[in-house]
Amino acid sequence: MNFGLIFTFFVLISSSNSAWWSVNGQYPAPILQANYGDRILINVTNNFGDPASIHWHGLFQRGTNYYDGIVGVTQCEIPNKVTFLYNFTLEQYGTYWYHSHTLGQIVDGLKGPLIIYDPKDPYYGKYDYEYVMTLSDWYHTPSGIILPLFRADDYGGTEPLPDSGEISGLGQYDCKAAPKNSTCNSNNKVATYVVKKGKKYRFRIINTSALVHYVFSIDNHPFTIIEVDGDYVKPITLNAIPINIAQRYSVILDANQPIDNYQIRAHISICGFVSDLSINYNTSLNYDVTGILKYEGAEDKLPTSKADSLNYTSLQCRDVNPNSLKPYYENKVPKNVISTFKALVDFNILPTGKVIGLINNSSFVPHSSYPTNQQIVEGVDPYKLPSYENAHVYECNSGDCNDAAVDIHIINDNDYTHPFHLHGHRFFVLYNGKNNTGIKPPHESDFNLKDPVTRDVVTVLPNSTTVIRYNANNPGVWFLHCHIQWHLNLGMAAQMIELPSIFKNTTTIPSDVTALCVGIDLDKKNK
Ligand code: C2O
Ligand code: CU
Repeated sequence: MNFGLIFTFFVLISSSNSAWWSVNGQYPAPILQANYGDRILINVTNNFGDPASIHWHGLFQRGTNYYDGIVGVTQCEIPNKVTFLYNFTLEQYGTYWYHSHTLGQIVDGLKGPLIIYDPKDPYYGKYDYEYVMTLSDWYHTPSGIILPLFRADDYGGTEPLPDSGEISGLGQYDCKAAPKNSTCNSNNKVATYVVKKGKKYRFRIINTSALVHYVFSIDNHPFTIIEVDGDYVKPITLNAIPINIAQRYSVILDANQPIDNYQIRAHISICGFVSDLSINYNTSLNYDVTGILKYEGAEDKLPTSKADSLNYTSLQCRDVNPNSLKPYYENKVPKNVISTFKALVDFNILPTGKVIGLINNSSFVPHSSYPTNQQIVEGVDPYKLPSYENAHVYECNSGDCNDAAVDIHIINDNDYTHPFHLHGHRFFVLYNGKNNTGIKPPHESDFNLKDPVTRDVVTVLPNSTTVIRYNANNPGVWFLHCHIQWHLNLGMAAQMIELPSIFKNTTTIPSDVTALCVGIDLDKKNK
């Protein structure tokens, strides 16, 4: 394998039927593969019609904050028929993904895996082959129709519910739930992974859903977790993994069972408003999305394996217990806390009936105005950014700045679960409060400062507080948000403005990035 090369990818976003997005004509979008240390050039051509941008989920983008892909935060949108070049170096390894960060395009399929191989992967040699697997929900109605309804003044309902779920693009749909007179075919293809008896397989599993949390298992096959969101962990063997939206796990599976077909199960849970109303979702969602683990030599028939007995209630809408995950390499938790951001997460119902998502009483409205990072480079005082920017600013003014740390207390003052994601970093999970333990500040004595796992999406449980810490060593503007697509669309997001003085003094934004903003009015706040 070669490391440190430059790879060029071409990403053409287009549509076959004017509603769903695809990349180079494929759904799921093609797997981008590169090596640690490579520079990758991705030419994104927008051939779809709506404005777009692509975010590289989990990448640090050190020195290239303007390629992070967030309209209004790090770039202006890529207009129809325009090609934009993303160009950055990979200083990390593991399982990532790329997706649209605009409107509801993620719902319509604009998302795919991004795998970065590591020459020093400590698990090389512990498995023979690898598979990349995506789990997703699937909506039969395009987001362009759903989103305006959901955001309407008098909506007052649950998050839009998907019609089904799928594994690597193949799902099942119960035709009993289909509208009368529609053509519906329940005999769809099933995602099938072929294994040889006696071999070991690494599965890289990515939950790319808009709303669904999955509990993933394979009948008769416990597996060993080795990677969480790009970071290696000490091996731990489980029968099932809860995977929240945007999280990734690598597991090693031992194909050591009798030659046969075994059911792969991705158990659907919805952890938003609908769970609170205890609506039985709708019948079409009340099932496990299935796939097949097929041993070479097994007959072509559907699996008859029995599900392992799993306690779903202890797994739904949660993470793998963070205390059971231990980093593979010793991770030093930075200690010079330069800033603590207390992010109170909630919803509000306006007098009109419209629901909005809040962080500290401010709702981040997706807008097409000038990106925050360009404003800072051009000299806008970050402390005086317009309030709608919902920003938290921090500089390192004292102590060892290599050891500078920021703590975020994600304080969840409502009954729902939120998978929170921070861009530009992998964070230490210091404290993950239990359900309904209230929003009182946690005691520092309860923080795990010794061996916390790092990740980039953490599940914040209902009415509880989660504390994360990260090394403030990446100047730029980094988005912090709930990764439930619909909560993001309601404004549950904030911007972390990291070391703005250094950012301003060391950043020149390339002219092809600023060119996207020509004609965008700085004051157009598009509320
Ligand atoms: Cu997966 Cu803000 O992103
Ligand atoms: Cu949320």
